[in-house]
Amino acid sequence: MILTVNPQSTGLRGEITPPGDKSISHRALIFSSLANGRSELSGLLESEDTLATLRACEQLGAVVERSPGKIFIDGTGGDLHRPSSGTLDMGNSGTAMRLLAGVLSGQGFDCTLSGDDSLNSRPMRRIVEPLRQMGAHIEPSGQGTAPISIGASDGLHGIEYRSPVASAQIKSCVLLAGLYASGITHVQEPRLSRDHTERMLPLFGVDLPAMCSVTGGSRLKAAKFDVPGDISSAVFLLAAAALISGSEITLRHVGLNPTRKGFLDCLEEMGADVRIIGCYEQGAEPAGDIQLRFSGQLKGIDVPESRVPDMIDELPLLMALAATATGITRIRGAAELRVKESDRLAVMAAGLKTLGVELKEYPDGIDIKGGGIGGGRVESAGDHRCAMSFAVLGLVADAEVKIEDAEFIATSYPGFREDMNTFGANMRLEESV
Ligand code: S3P
Repeated sequence: MILTVNPQSTGLRGEITPPGDKSISHRALIFSSLANGRSELSGLLESEDTLATLRACEQLGAVVERSPGKIFIDGTGGDLHRPSSGTLDMGNSGTAMRLLAGVLSGQGFDCTLSGDDSLNSRPMRRIVEPLRQMGAHIEPSGQGTAPISIGASDGLHGIEYRSPVASAQIKSCVLLAGLYASGITHVQEPRLSRDHTERMLPLFGVDLPAMCSVTGGSRLKAAKFDVPGDISSAVFLLAAAALISGSEITLRHVGLNPTRKGFLDCLEEMGADVRIIGCYEQGAEPAGDIQLRFSGQLKGIDVPESRVPDMIDELPLLMALAATATGITRIRGAAELRVKESDRLAVMAAGLKTLGVELKEYPDGIDIKGGGIGGGRVESAGDHRCAMSFAVLGLVADAEVKIEDAEFIATSYPGFREDMNTFGANMRLEESV
């Protein structure tokens, strides 16, 4: 499908609650499925990625009942069932595959985890190595990628794992395997990655003996959990309002976890008028309302490397904003972008060049010179976040921007176009020709 975006002449205005947080939704589904008893979840994201997790949880023995605005999950008590086909399809979702690989490494049955072409080309040795150190029988295919075969466990042991990358998927995978291991499992990372697993486990009755540690044999108890709105989806609306004169929007009940707020800090440094109005704690996660009023031309910034993990999913959007800002924006220390749903540095660089932007790509980053944006047809390479970043840029281009593979936006934000249009944008979805 092609998403067509027209230059926007009037400000965006309105108020919405963005869809549920994707990272938190995956964890709420997995933890409820492992728990003993009936969990009640509200605010969950229903997107392609989280539906892949939900289907996998059902195949592993969780019983799911839906009611308006809520889902109830009768958990397995921790001992999962072997999926009848022997294979779980995780679609496009790296989080689903890596977190479930940790859980499945501790089960008494064999199973295979597979995904779409993008997921099956992403690096999996980063989880295979620590899981093998714990005693898991796990085998990736080809170049260390999925499909991943996991053999029946004959016992795992806890490890002290020093992760070479700041990655919440690696950390959570190892901690979840640690629940099935003897002794304590502890993960250290070069910089703190998103900490939703550590915040949520105690709500499901698992006390962590120390930060980023679990005690083997801990069992989860059912919980009631409300998922806040996804800051990683909210940012597209905020960025669009920051670019278009006359805009004023409010986003309600957005997750404001400090490990996810790097983009808001960048927006402020670039000169946007972004305010948090009311902040509260809900389900161990900070949340609140965010207001953005257009305040003029943004300026380029140097993104501190230390901020990269706190905005890893927002960097494609930052590249789009940088293309409109005065001066040069520099991003470094972001080589991880090359192994996301696409090579996000390459895909954004190619699309921005098509729209007439001057830039220089580096192995771990990019320099972007802000200026005028032309119209054109850009490739999103099946990457939801690149597609939405180009769509935001299309609102301030000189002419129509067409984005290919736009159906992948449903990976994280199925209602993106509708929400943008509710605020006054004009985005249309058409069949590819
Ligand atoms: C996620 C962690 C991040 C992020 C991804 C979601 C998670 O990946 O990019 O979208 O939910 O744990 P890495 O752990 O690979 O950095």
